[in-house]
Amino acid sequence: MDDVQYYKRDLWEVENLKHAEPHFRLRKVARVVDRITHGRPCDLLDVGCGPAALARLMPPGVSYHGIDIAIHEPAPNLIEMDILDEKISFCDKKFDVIVAQGIFEYVGLFQSQKLAEIASLLKEDGKFIVTYQNFTHRKPQIYKLYSNVQSPGDFRGDLSRFFTIERCFAVSHNWNHGQPVRPFMKAAQAHLNVKIPVLSPILAVDYLYICSARGPGDDRPAARGPARHAGMPAA
Ligand SMILES: C[S@@+](CC[C@H](N)C(=O)[O-])C[C@H]1O[C@@H](n2cnc3c(N)ncnc32)[C@H](O)[C@@H]1O
Repeated sequence: MDDVQYYKRDLWEVENLKHAEPHFRLRKVARVVDRITHGRPCDLLDVGCGPAALARLMPPGVSYHGIDIAIHEPAPNLIEMDILDEKISFCDKKFDVIVAQGIFEYVGLFQSQKLAEIASLLKEDGKFIVTYQNFTHRKPQIYKLYSNVQSPGDFRGDLSRFFTIERCFAVSHNWNHGQPVRPFMKAAQAHLNVKIPVLSPILAVDYLYICSARGPGDDRPAARGPARHAGMPAA
């Protein structure tokens, strides 16, 4: 556990430029946001926003805010922050929607703490949209920068300590552990939001969870304890 390696701004300022153009998962998340917000004005926070490609896909009415360790083009709605060194926050604001896609694979031992911080920023009826790689894929690709590798079950278990999980589905399925790139595969799966028994555990690339804040009727104790790191060893 002590040998978890964290990568800092100097690496991410180069690496996150790979996400400057909207990719398959980003477009799917944008559609989910569209469906959730339904034209209502709302405040959205994108944690680990990279070059803020999601902002370009947001429906009118969504006021976009982003946090990242490496912001390339400073703007009032973007804050540069290392979320492993600082508490996730954005000028004391609370949000209707918080998105965290492709970031929890990099939070090492801070997973529980960061989920708790995000939960505290969500408005009462807000939604948290989070993606996490499926490391039970038939041939999982463990990218060298990943500092937080665990099974979907373990991730889901920790997530449910802080949120009510309303839906969970595969962002995409692929024989190889990577987002679909062929036009046919992209078109076929663009609107397919399912989790298929037997198939998804081995072919889902990553999962998307739509969560709401835990209500007063939810009697499981909300965890605020030390960071929890689950099951599988980091690469
Ligand atoms: C795989 S990219 C995903 C970018 C974007 N969310 C997307 O899906 O296209 C991971 C992002 O997390 C950011 N990141 C990594 N470690 C971070 C940290 N400690 N604090 C804030 N952002 C971080 C990186 O700069 C990068 O933009």
